[in-house]
Amino acid sequence: MTDGLQSTGSGADSTTESNDSLTITDNRTGKSYDVEVTDGTVRAMDLRQIKVSEDDFGMMTYDPGFTNTAACRSAVTYIDGDAGILEHRGIPIEQLCEHSTYLEVAYMIIFGSLPNQEQYDQWAHDITHHTYVHENIKEHMGSFWHDAHPMGMLLSSVGALSTFYPDAANIDDERERYMAAVRLIAKIPTLAAFSYRRSLGLPYVYPDNDLSYAGNFLSMLFKMAEPRYEPDPRLERALDKLFILHADHEQNCSAAAVRVAGSSRVDPYSAIGAGVAGLYGPLHGGANVAVLRMLQRIGSVENVPDFLEGVKRGDERLMGFGHRVYKNYDPRARIIRDDVDEVLEATNKQSPWLDIAIELEKRALDDEYFTSRKLYPNVDFYSGLIYEAMGIPTDMFTVMFAVARTSGWIAQWTELLNDSEMKIARPRQIYTGARDADYVPMSKR
Ligand code: CMC
Repeated sequence: MTDGLQSTGSGADSTTESNDSLTITDNRTGKSYDVEVTDGTVRAMDLRQIKVSEDDFGMMTYDPGFTNTAACRSAVTYIDGDAGILEHRGIPIEQLCEHSTYLEVAYMIIFGSLPNQEQYDQWAHDITHHTYVHENIKEHMGSFWHDAHPMGMLLSSVGALSTFYPDAANIDDERERYMAAVRLIAKIPTLAAFSYRRSLGLPYVYPDNDLSYAGNFLSMLFKMAEPRYEPDPRLERALDKLFILHADHEQNCSAAAVRVAGSSRVDPYSAIGAGVAGLYGPLHGGANVAVLRMLQRIGSVENVPDFLEGVKRGDERLMGFGHRVYKNYDPRARIIRDDVDEVLEATNKQSPWLDIAIELEKRALDDEYFTSRKLYPNVDFYSGLIYEAMGIPTDMFTVMFAVARTSGWIAQWTELLNDSEMKIARPRQIYTGARDADYVPMSKR
């Protein structure tokens, strides 16, 4: 018998189960088992004792996409999708966006609580003084084709950092872990901006340590001939808020990728590189790009009703609507909705797409097709509009996401290493291929 599971012989009525258990009857054998229930879950390994014969491997669960499997315990981020709640370390995202900064949120999600003044000053100082990257990174960037996707460049340069900081492989050393967290958060905007400048054929702009985290990033993206780039405080704040909104989102595809790679005890730069790769895909980090393309395709407010009819016929999806977890208005979308106007005002621009987005939202929220399916705007419905208004090209949207999510990936990675239950990730499979086949020489195939 393993902890948490007891065979109760044949017949479900012979159980000794407590209220915190699940009784499973195997109809193949007639045997019943009591499985311990903890935090609303059963341990998959407890099922292994369920066998039809002594040489049976034992029962497994089958869960492609981990849609109903908790793979870890986590205290970083809480989401209640039905109620539209998102909290980091217990603090609602609305409060963090109103009162905090990205650097403070990054500290909090990684180290577990808000920093005091001294801790914050040290953290901000350390991040600010590690923004430069080794000059060889420029050569690395320079080796890409002129129109290389900036996310591909970011992915490879984050991985390359592990070769510049080989001591980071000592992942049990607290100091090395701290330095890796600092270096990653400090350098990823530099790598992101370099990949952007490279994709435009523009010279790289070195970090300006007198600017804020978001202000310095804007400077590295947009500075031209002026001696000093002065970020517009409205853009700086809007960008910082977008970074807070994207800092972490519990066990999504890229966080899971970081945990799976990290469970091999690889160095942090390589583990975070796995997160960048997960985010690169259109189903994860690329949705705001799809929103902008959709708005461009719709073309004008008059075309909105026809477009929505097409969505309802199933011809296409309303991008930026719906979410696997949120079955209510995504709290992040609510927060940034108003920022679109402020950013447009700051950049003195008119967005041809904003009116279309507003009309889409208005009509969809008033339409039984969308309300009955609990389809509400998600964060990506508006984030692309803000980036576009800031003059950031669509290819860069996922890179922006990666800059912000780096703190979440580090928090997930740190939590993984501190977890006494941590094991190398190694899922099971249901083998469906051939067995005992003979090798056929080439001449006989
Ligand atoms: N437009 C139209 N219909 C939709 C949409 C949509 N955007 N999303 C879901 N539906 C319908 C779907 O057709 C289904 O209808 P029916 O019951 O008649 O078959 C029903 O709603 C349930 O949909 P589902 O596909 O089972 O929902 P899901 O939880 O598997 O999908 C989703 C979630 C995000 C993949 C999906 O809503 C979607 O494709 N949305 C558009 C893409 C998008 O905006 N993605 C960004 C998500 S936020 C990013 C982040 O948090 O990191």
